[in-house]
Amino acid sequence: MKKLVILGLFGILLIACSSSSQKNETSANDAGTSNNASTKTTTSANPAYDPNRGEGKFTHVDISPSLDVSMADNGSKVYNIKCSSCHKLTDEKLVGPGWKGVTQRHTAEWIMNFVTNTDDMLTKDPKAQAMLEICLVRMPNQHLTDQEARDVYEFMRKNDGIK
Ligand code: HEC
Repeated sequence: MKKLVILGLFGILLIACSSSSQKNETSANDAGTSNNASTKTTTSANPAYDPNRGEGKFTHVDISPSLDVSMADNGSKVYNIKCSSCHKLTDEKLVGPGWKGVTQRHTAEWIMNFVTNTDDMLTKDPKAQAMLEICLVRMPNQHLTDQEARDVYEFMRKNDGIK
């Protein structure tokens, strides 16, 4: 009977450790094969996660080289109401990171997925988790519509000097 209990505990330990130690396996296992699909089998804890895109509904966002002023204006309103209590427009941290340079740190898809699917991304995304460790606060989902997410992204571009 005791043996069973010990075996059981050992099993739990194994499971607990494996989820955190799998992150770096992908590239090593991928090196010899030309077939990218093989990565799926190596990361069961985090299957085919794309860190550039994040996770959520946005797979491709069209961005024009110049600023869309009306979208940026709408985004500025969203920022004032829903984001400014935690985010400054400089590089200074408030509750969350300052937004200066945020459009260089992440793709449009990543940002729009993060702001509409915040909980999932905080659980799965390495960059989001690193921020969480610094900020110690989980950003609450702000329930933006798709258009509001796009507008706020345009406002971030304006803040980063796009004209
Ligand atoms: C209650 C505070 C709070 C509010 C309100 C808030 N955020 Fe955040 N945000 C955070 C925190 C904290 C982080 C860092 C990740 C974490 O710890 O959860 C973050 C991270 C981010 C990031 C990634 C920043 C980077 O530098 O990589 C983006 C983008 C973002 N928030 C967008 C928004 C938008 C858009 C809004 C408004 C619609 C908003 N946030 C409202 C707290 C907040």
